[in-house]
Amino acid sequence: MLAIETVELTKAFGDFVAVNGINLKVKAGENFGLLGPNGAGKTTTIRMIAGLIKPSRGSVRVFGIDVTRERREALKLIGYMPQKFSLYEDLTVEENVILYARLFGLSRAEAKERARELLKRFLLWEFRNRLAGKLSGGMKQRLALSVSLVHDPRLLMLDEPTAGVDPPLRRKFWEFFRELNKEGKTILITTHYMDEAENCNRLALMSRGRIIAEGTPREIKRRAIGGDLVEIIAEGHVRLRAEWVKSVEKRDGRFLALVDDAAVRIPQIIRELEGQGVKVISVAPMFVSLEEAFIRFLGD
Ligand SMILES: Nc1ncnc2c1ncn2[C@@H]1O[C@H](COP(=O)(O)OP(=O)(O)OP(=O)(O)O)[C@@H](O)[C@H]1O
Ligand SMILES: [Mg+2]
Repeated sequence: MLAIETVELTKAFGDFVAVNGINLKVKAGENFGLLGPNGAGKTTTIRMIAGLIKPSRGSVRVFGIDVTRERREALKLIGYMPQKFSLYEDLTVEENVILYARLFGLSRAEAKERARELLKRFLLWEFRNRLAGKLSGGMKQRLALSVSLVHDPRLLMLDEPTAGVDPPLRRKFWEFFRELNKEGKTILITTHYMDEAENCNRLALMSRGRIIAEGTPREIKRRAIGGDLVEIIAEGHVRLRAEWVKSVEKRDGRFLALVDDAAVRIPQIIRELEGQGVKVISVAPMFVSLEEAFIRFLGD
């Protein structure tokens, strides 16, 4: 089941095409990361999926429901946490959650119960009487997350939920996201923190309105550098000739071999070098950051 399916999704503002023919498929239950530099079109894409702005061209379906044609039905399935804090600063934390719960049709008693449950869950219960405008950045983000969940949506779209949040709280946020995933919610998230993006099970990289790379973090890295890097520490010279070795270079007394699949080739490398009489100290896959992978993609 696809949680999100966009077909040639496009948004133009006047002559400027912010989102240009995007075909996105997010499976139910995934934690999908939408990444890209400032202005790439991430927020515009999310706003179209959330039914907040109309596509200039193309279509969006959420769990099979057309967001443009059956907007009311679709909106019941979607929770949205905007990039910019947009709650009522002159209402308290609890009042904000209750208000949004009421807007989604919950009774007064249900709304109160829902607020209690969400505020406890996201560690805001003790601040329930504080005005939203007086919250710290991290608390505001948790309040926005609570509000996005009032109607128990199946799909949660989070636009930079951890922007400006300190590292311990960012970690906490990712624990929340993992729990939500476990409960069966699909998450589409944008972030500029590449270490966080490693936690997504699939990613799409956007640039200038288009998707320029898509896959699991591992697939994306492999594609960016053309294979897997294996670090070899050995006494003697490393010479590897096989069709699966794309290159070997020496860097800081180590050798870096670019191969098609590190897991398969590492034992073969060890055997090959030992056969040549080279004393092997270690052969290990080298960690490539997503940041490096993306810089390579964006450089093209
Ligand atoms: N309502 C609008 N009118 C005109 N241009 C817009 C509008 N909304 C967005 N844009 C433009 O569309 C492009 C994409 O913006 P968008 O906010 O989707 O990018 P983003 O990937 O979310 O960036 P960021 O990482 O900075 O949040 C930008 O050049 C932006 O200026
Ligand atoms: Mg944005």
